[in-house]
Amino acid sequence: MCGIIGTVARSGDDIVDQIIEGLEKLEYRGYDSAGIAVISDGKIIRERAVGKLQNLKAKLKGSSISGSLGIGHTRWATHGRPTENNAHPIISRNVAVVHNGIIENYKELKFDLKNDGYIFETETDTEVVAHFLQREIDHGASPRNAFENLLKSIEGAYAFAILFSAAPDALFAARHRSPLAVGRGKNFCVGSDASSISSMCDEIFYLEDGDHVEVTRDRVLFFDKDSNVVERKPQAISPDFTNSGKGEYSYYMLKEIMEQPNAIRKTMLQNQMDTRILDDISRILILACGTSYHAGMVSRYWFEKFFKIPTQVEIASEYRYRSPIIEDNTLMIVITQSGETIDTLEAIEYVRKNSASRIVAIANVKNSAISRAADFVFYTEAGVEVGVASTKAFTAQLTVLAMIAFYRHEFLLQKLHNIPALCEETLLLYKDIGEVSQNIAKAHSAIFLGRGSLYPIALEGALKLKEISYLHAEGFASGEMKHGPIALIDDNVPAICLCPHNELFEKNASNIQEILARGNNILVFTDASGSELLPSEVTKIILPAVNSEFAPVLYSLPLQLLAYHVAVLRGTDVDKPRNLAKSVTVE
Ligand code: M6R
Repeated sequence: MCGIIGTVARSGDDIVDQIIEGLEKLEYRGYDSAGIAVISDGKIIRERAVGKLQNLKAKLKGSSISGSLGIGHTRWATHGRPTENNAHPIISRNVAVVHNGIIENYKELKFDLKNDGYIFETETDTEVVAHFLQREIDHGASPRNAFENLLKSIEGAYAFAILFSAAPDALFAARHRSPLAVGRGKNFCVGSDASSISSMCDEIFYLEDGDHVEVTRDRVLFFDKDSNVVERKPQAISPDFTNSGKGEYSYYMLKEIMEQPNAIRKTMLQNQMDTRILDDISRILILACGTSYHAGMVSRYWFEKFFKIPTQVEIASEYRYRSPIIEDNTLMIVITQSGETIDTLEAIEYVRKNSASRIVAIANVKNSAISRAADFVFYTEAGVEVGVASTKAFTAQLTVLAMIAFYRHEFLLQKLHNIPALCEETLLLYKDIGEVSQNIAKAHSAIFLGRGSLYPIALEGALKLKEISYLHAEGFASGEMKHGPIALIDDNVPAICLCPHNELFEKNASNIQEILARGNNILVFTDASGSELLPSEVTKIILPAVNSEFAPVLYSLPLQLLAYHVAVLRGTDVDKPRNLAKSVTVE
């Protein structure tokens, strides 16, 4: 989390606007505060503001800050509250630092630096970096040596961009377990992702773990983790980085929900099953976080039923902390929208170290760290997803997983082609769902229920609702209600049930009756034949009939719309909900 950027204008022109443009593209990584620093007449000048980037932009209007070399930051707070004082760039006299990641040994370093007389003014872990570099300079080190000494002394995850007033023509940057791309073109730049710098460059270099760079007007020098000068291969800018804006929609999330039929079509079109990934496998291990984890949970139902292979699905952030046993011939599938989630990346590393498993990634962002770390990648073709709440990436993930799980079942693969049209039909329920959302928006808590492969969709519905509307929501397997959660039910707690007319319908209908006996606030998503059999006291939204295997794809759509409407009614920032970031690069 946090987005960093650094730019050196080769022409010597002012780069403030370009840094701001880059920060706009990085705001998905955090929006607790934003800041910029440039070198002007050999001095570091800085401007910072709490909250979204628009606040910094407003401040810059009345400021004369300008320079041809600068850095910028958009923050997702880890150490220290989101105040202006804790906003980056963090300065120690003649050094300015922007940082993404966490310095794990910052307490020891802080203790030493304090003993040496350096005064700490922020609550951030990053301040040790600024003072460490300043102390090196005070002891006579060159900026490059100071930077290399720093990299030897810090532990944790980081991507930095750094300015020294002692080196007014150079920008220093490094990465370890946090992403950083370097761009070459009209300007030289560094950025947390390629999209933030793509408009300024023609080529992108993805740094290896432990690399650092020194960028001046004429050249970029790449160094490996042992400070040897190395070559890194440039790559062309991918057109995927273009974010086409919100169009006719008031929020990206709504636009992205509506884009799902095409995202699914494109994902089917652009991916082909490669049976080599399945050679000699006897187990599948799926690792992911958040919404991507829910996609993995759905696919377990598919893999076990149609593949007859034991399938394990784990939360990536937990996996490596319990000494898991990885059997031979395990296929590891990691699922990710951003391709950057550090928990997922670390889980890959754990599996690499402890097994010979083949690693397949399902990622939305091309060339992302996770796609580069895998042996094989399927790309979801959802396009840029801007809304923090993942929608179209989720159904595109389900599409890829279905293509793998059903590849020996031509009948199901054919049925998969009908899904985009069924999604289009389902999205026509936009207004109906808007109406039933009024009741949910008034509640303090909501419960989502599903059975079989719709259980993960109940979890996903609850996650969507809580992350963008701040309304407490929990998802349960319908059959688990009677084991405890039913105690929560009363007229004020809406129960949102997923109940298509499938092989589990009778059981779900009984669970609905059990809830109805204790509360009268039930919203059921069903189909026409299910609706006829359900009690008249419940509110029903009727979806098109769908083959049972694909119900998870279809039933996720109305839950996304429900969360969207509730969030709008509650007046939250739908695309940038509080406390969250689109890409989670801290553990
Ligand atoms: O980029 P990833 O798919 O690896 O991200 C995983 C989660 O952080 C992500 O799905 C998160 O839960 C979303 N905000 C949910 O909408």
